[in-house]
Amino acid sequence: MRVHLKIWRQEKRDTPGRFESYEVEDISPDFSFLEMLDILNERLEEKGERPVAFDHDCREGICGTCGMVVNGEAHGPWDRSTTCQLHMRAFKDGDEILIEPFRARAFPVLQDLMVDRSAFDRIIQAGGYVSVGTGSAPEANILPVPKPAAELAFDAASCIGCGACVAQCPNGAAQLFTSAKVGHLNILPQGAPEKDRRAVAMVEQMEAEIFGSCSNFRECEAVCPKGISIDWIARMNRDYLRAKLKGIRRR
Ligand code: SF4
Ligand code: FES
Repeated sequence: MRVHLKIWRQEKRDTPGRFESYEVEDISPDFSFLEMLDILNERLEEKGERPVAFDHDCREGICGTCGMVVNGEAHGPWDRSTTCQLHMRAFKDGDEILIEPFRARAFPVLQDLMVDRSAFDRIIQAGGYVSVGTGSAPEANILPVPKPAAELAFDAASCIGCGACVAQCPNGAAQLFTSAKVGHLNILPQGAPEKDRRAVAMVEQMEAEIFGSCSNFRECEAVCPKGISIDWIARMNRDYLRAKLKGIRRR
């Protein structure tokens, strides 16, 4: 198959970008979307042109590194899919495909389709961990975890930190990501001692990173490749409010 690509090209963070058009021929419908971009890049390099920069690592939907907006949708047209899991059979021969970086104020473009998502790392650093005392390792079964809590925590922990929720939100809000990361620890007994401080620290770091506010568009939930529910946002808001009512402050 042959596709016509319009790709956002931007040299550096502070240089203006523009869309450039490319034709890619002899593409199998079984190629992944990223393999199609690899082929484009090989052909650009053969012609002495700069390849298109894009992020990727595992290419199996678990690392959260890949991410771009394909025809207006973060991670493209397939439900519950990352960009690396998208295949060319999602498109028809002769289709035009518009490819852009994730666009959000808190995710500045580094080059072409690569954005800086370190704001997410700083939210995790603020409280996305469980402190343990030094000494010998605790016995694994000393703290029983109720089955419903374990299952819910697993759902939240499946967030891969890709940032699609932010990219698709008209407000550029990071509530879905932050709530998944707050929630998967706050719901477990191991996370209980730091529950209040975690909610305050992570929510306030999210606010400091200039993400937008959640106004219930639910676009985040619609594009999330891991199906994270906006119920987590309600849980996070409740944990945060309870902590503030107790006078908990970020250290
Ligand atoms: S909540 Fe979903 S869309 Fe947002 S970072 Fe996590 S996996 Fe990606
Ligand atoms: S490259 Fe790891 S999730 Fe896509």
